[in-house]
Amino acid sequence: MKKHVIYMSVLSAFLSAASCQHKEKQTESNKLAEKVEVTYQGVPITNVYDSKIDSLIAEMTIEEKAGMLHGNSMFATKAIERLGIPELTMADGPLGVREEISRDSWAAAGWENDFATYYPAGGGLAATWNTELSYLFGTSVGEEAIARDKDVLLSPAINIIRTPLGGRTYEYFTEDPFLNKKLTVPFIVGVQENDVAVCVKHFAANNQETHRDYVDVQIDERALREIYLPAFKAAVQEAQAYSFMGAYNKFRGEYLCENGYMLNNVLRDEWGFKGIVISDWAAVHDTKKSIENGLDVEMGTPKPFDEFFYADALIEKVKSGVIAEADVDVHVKRVLQLMFSLKSIDDAGRAKGSINTEDHFQDAYKIAAESVVLLKNENNQLPIKLDGVKSIAVIGNNAKKKNALGGFGAGVKTKREVTPLEGLQNRLPESVTINYAEGYLERYSNDEKAKLGDITLNGPVTIDKLEPDMLEAAIKAAKSSDVAIIFAGSNRDYETEASDRASLKLPFGQEELIEKVLEVNPNTIVVIIAGAPFDIQNISQKSSALIWSWFNGSEGGNALADVILGTVNPSGKLPWTMPKKLEDSPAHATHSFPGDKSVNYTEGILVGYRWFDTKNVAPLYPFGYGLSYSKFEFSDLKTDKSVYKSDELIQVSFNVKNTGDFDGKEVAQLYVRDPESYVDKAAKELKGFKKVFIKSGEVQQVSTQLPVKELAYYNEVKKSWLVEPGEYVIKLGNSSRNIEAEVIIEVKD
Ligand code: BGC
Repeated sequence: MKKHVIYMSVLSAFLSAASCQHKEKQTESNKLAEKVEVTYQGVPITNVYDSKIDSLIAEMTIEEKAGMLHGNSMFATKAIERLGIPELTMADGPLGVREEISRDSWAAAGWENDFATYYPAGGGLAATWNTELSYLFGTSVGEEAIARDKDVLLSPAINIIRTPLGGRTYEYFTEDPFLNKKLTVPFIVGVQENDVAVCVKHFAANNQETHRDYVDVQIDERALREIYLPAFKAAVQEAQAYSFMGAYNKFRGEYLCENGYMLNNVLRDEWGFKGIVISDWAAVHDTKKSIENGLDVEMGTPKPFDEFFYADALIEKVKSGVIAEADVDVHVKRVLQLMFSLKSIDDAGRAKGSINTEDHFQDAYKIAAESVVLLKNENNQLPIKLDGVKSIAVIGNNAKKKNALGGFGAGVKTKREVTPLEGLQNRLPESVTINYAEGYLERYSNDEKAKLGDITLNGPVTIDKLEPDMLEAAIKAAKSSDVAIIFAGSNRDYETEASDRASLKLPFGQEELIEKVLEVNPNTIVVIIAGAPFDIQNISQKSSALIWSWFNGSEGGNALADVILGTVNPSGKLPWTMPKKLEDSPAHATHSFPGDKSVNYTEGILVGYRWFDTKNVAPLYPFGYGLSYSKFEFSDLKTDKSVYKSDELIQVSFNVKNTGDFDGKEVAQLYVRDPESYVDKAAKELKGFKKVFIKSGEVQQVSTQLPVKELAYYNEVKKSWLVEPGEYVIKLGNSSRNIEAEVIIEVKD
């Protein structure tokens, strides 16, 4: 871990002079600001540094201060050249460093040198269940961000997946708060080691795109604390995140960019957040409320930048006494502290980074290779055994579809995106002929394909009729080939920010295509490429080999081909529940999606598998599920003691044996059940996991620590976390529905 080092050079001369001139000037802002102390990995920045920032602020006009607090272009604030203060520069985001956007519109800036690595989207990273890969992702994309001179990377996106229809499911990680926080923390540390701030988004309770600009979200306090906030809290307390993004929607009646409860009470007072809160783009509604309730920087979509709430309106309100200048200074100080922390004011020693490199493409490969989920593999149809195989039919528009860009939302302009078809071409021997047939067309009615700036509330409307000649060509290719592989699913035009999908149906007539191909070639492998659940019950019953892949980055096609051909043994696990049907999912079973002006999360804490397992609803594929080409057995589950105090660590150990013929990785998952409780609890909750590599035929002893405090629930009356004394069952398995061993421990006061 790096410690924070303060670099001062030319600026320091100015600062010391300024601090002499103004040292008696103890304004309210100085007092407030002194409380704000930036730390990095727990190391506080000195008061000397603080007072220099105060001196700098004392030199500024109100116009200059306002300039630092709002967008002066699409992705940057205004510099104050005379004081040596640069712009605060930002870039999306979750799939890699976004292409350069024009300064005053959403159009691409048209740069020639803004190519970047396209990393697997959030769902793919989450499906690896590998915290080391999350750190690798963070360091890799952090290096790219700094190489593009960005101070803030608008990532990670960590909202909980509440509904399978969510338009941004592909960008987010998971339905589970524990997996969410375990992936979030190393990602942030990795990015910030490169002198780039993360911007953890979208804070908070932003779990649907429908009505996202105004919907008022109601969540009971326990569900808020136990499900929706843990990863955000860990981002502050375990990863020292430098910035957060305030969400578009309302929470309990107040917009999140002016929500005093969330921004001041929870984020700063309770969790001790010292960084800055940046608004989502055009998520601010009221100058005074936002200034008072904790929003530091307003960013937005094109309108004259002077018309932003933190621009002329702020200046006018300070001049007329409606807002105290001291209150503005608090925010300016936080931005300056961030700039010093990032070494962006005086860049001596600032990381340089690198972008678009082979190393980074290989980082993206490693993540993609561990993210692919094997859902079904009857008769060991996979990996494909090439002996005697002369031809493979590759069917489906998704075999060639690229997803680095698309839809409404942040993508990446990349020099490399290996498609599934190219991956197979790269990896198959020349002796195997590929017979490609597009099979289905990606079509939208009324041109409703989501475009930038075009918000389609019910999701894009697709045309689901197959073209007879294309169907015929696909059948012919399948019939005349030894093996057929269908690449279906969705893409980033269909799954997109700003709209949720209307249903879980596979679009573009794909289900019919898959059925027809399966009829003519039983040796067919179905590969779904998507970021969110789909209704694949029928397809799953009819096919014998089924793979799930993601919007999987620059090397996605190579990684997928390696899994199909067996160079990589699949080890991805679903980060969310695949329901049999939409109505089985909690938000839909309780008819509490999408609401209109307001939405009430009536399922409370029973989100995702917590609902399915507690209500005994069988999913199609459970949370945490994913097969391997090997088989793993768990045994000898033990804890170091049987009775624990609430501040202790439970040392859990067990053996994992690889009984199959392939070396491979398995994700051992620890769930906890509280059989007797004063409050309702879910049937089980994930409280630990470990991904382990085990050679064929070998056994490995695995040990991991489970802090007893992880067993706490949030007590709404006491407004605190409580571990109830009594027995708990620790369950070990490789999905939320496949538990292979249990051990009981007791917690005593
Ligand atoms: C999204 C954010 C994104 C911002 C800037 C908004 O529409 O919600 O996630 O960072 O735009 O592109």
